[in-house]
Amino acid sequence: MPDKRGHQTRSGNSGAARRVLHRVRNETELHDLQKPSLSRKTARLRIALLSLGVLWMLATGFVHPLPHTISERATSPLFPGARITPSVAQAFNRACGNCHSEKTEWPWYAQVAPGSWLVESDVKRARKRMNLSRWENVDPTDQRLLLSAIATVVENREMPPRRYLMLHPKAKLTADESVEVIEWTRTERRRLRESTDGAATQ
Ligand code: HEC
Repeated sequence: MPDKRGHQTRSGNSGAARRVLHRVRNETELHDLQKPSLSRKTARLRIALLSLGVLWMLATGFVHPLPHTISERATSPLFPGARITPSVAQAFNRACGNCHSEKTEWPWYAQVAPGSWLVESDVKRARKRMNLSRWENVDPTDQRLLLSAIATVVENREMPPRRYLMLHPKAKLTADESVEVIEWTRTERRRLRESTDGAATQ
């Protein structure tokens, strides 16, 4: 009877399958027992490290917007629109330009995560507060406020930030440069005040 044969075949098949499965399970158990658990741990560790490496490369490659954008102002002088002497401009370039302008020269540690994130967030915050490449876009009242803020942070040695100076010792302003910068902020503030007062009375 085809029906019966079919049934027999099916049951015979599943019996064989069960035996094979059983053997496979036994063999893997045996295999697991023979394998020292240390090598499994090492394999897992290796996979974990590899995944971390891949994540790190992805993090560096993709979560990294700023160093790829080169501003059209990267080569233009700081403080457009201000009256500034070359030596004061030079001091700002060296000590402040990397963060407060679009002339940023990205250091090596800005090329890889997590340095890239720290540097980018620093530069983003610094430019938002004061972008010396776009000085002419700041209205004169705010320019005067920023100039006195500059004098204060330079006087108190709050800028450049100390952690930045540890990696960029050349960015430190000398005592003479600090005096020169502070005096310049006063001169420029006076000039702005006089020109806006003049404009108001005209
Ligand atoms: C390593 C990057 C870096 C450098 C270099 C740097 N600054 Fe800053 N500066 C910042 C950041 C970041 C802020 C914003 C701080 C905040 O958001 O609290 C800031 C804020 C300021 C402010 C605003 C302070 C306030 O009153 O809110 C002034 C003014 C300033 N910086 C001046 C300077 C001057 C002048 C120099 C150069 C002598 C300089 N900075 C160099 C990162 C930098």
